[in-house]
Amino acid sequence: MCPDKPTKKGVSRRDFLGLASMGAAVLSLLAVLAGILRMTKANVHYEPSKKFKIGKPEEFPIGIVKKLDDRGVFIFADSDGLHAITSVCTHLGCIVSNTEWGFQCPCHGSQFDRDGKVIAGPAPRSLPWLEVSRHVDGNIVVDAGKEVGAGTKFKVYV
Ligand code: FES
Repeated sequence: MCPDKPTKKGVSRRDFLGLASMGAAVLSLLAVLAGILRMTKANVHYEPSKKFKIGKPEEFPIGIVKKLDDRGVFIFADSDGLHAITSVCTHLGCIVSNTEWGFQCPCHGSQFDRDGKVIAGPAPRSLPWLEVSRHVDGNIVVDAGKEVGAGTKFKVYV
């Protein structure tokens, strides 16, 4: 059987192999071009800002405790001002609940006092206090990416 002999459909083996190698070359070229185009785009993952507004000072009368579940923080207002404590347990990241004596983690039982200091359980460190400030538009802002020392309060009441 001759390799150049046309098959029943009219395509010889040589033509078929030529077309197949041409197709492979085109696909390889497209893959290289796709790779080059992909390199022009930065491989960066953007995450939302950890700074967020929680409302006007009037929304936080003295004595109020607000739990912002979507942000993972507690906001406390007392006569010294506002402060924010994370509600994310420092053990494995469960959300703690506020109790009359402090905070309780439902996952492995860690307990924290009112200042977030560990009093029991596997949690390795205290619940961080977060920076509270005021935006130029008058809203209170919490920066969940910036820890402050326990006892640091933002004075909003004069
Ligand atoms: S996640 Fe809170 S004690 Fe383990």
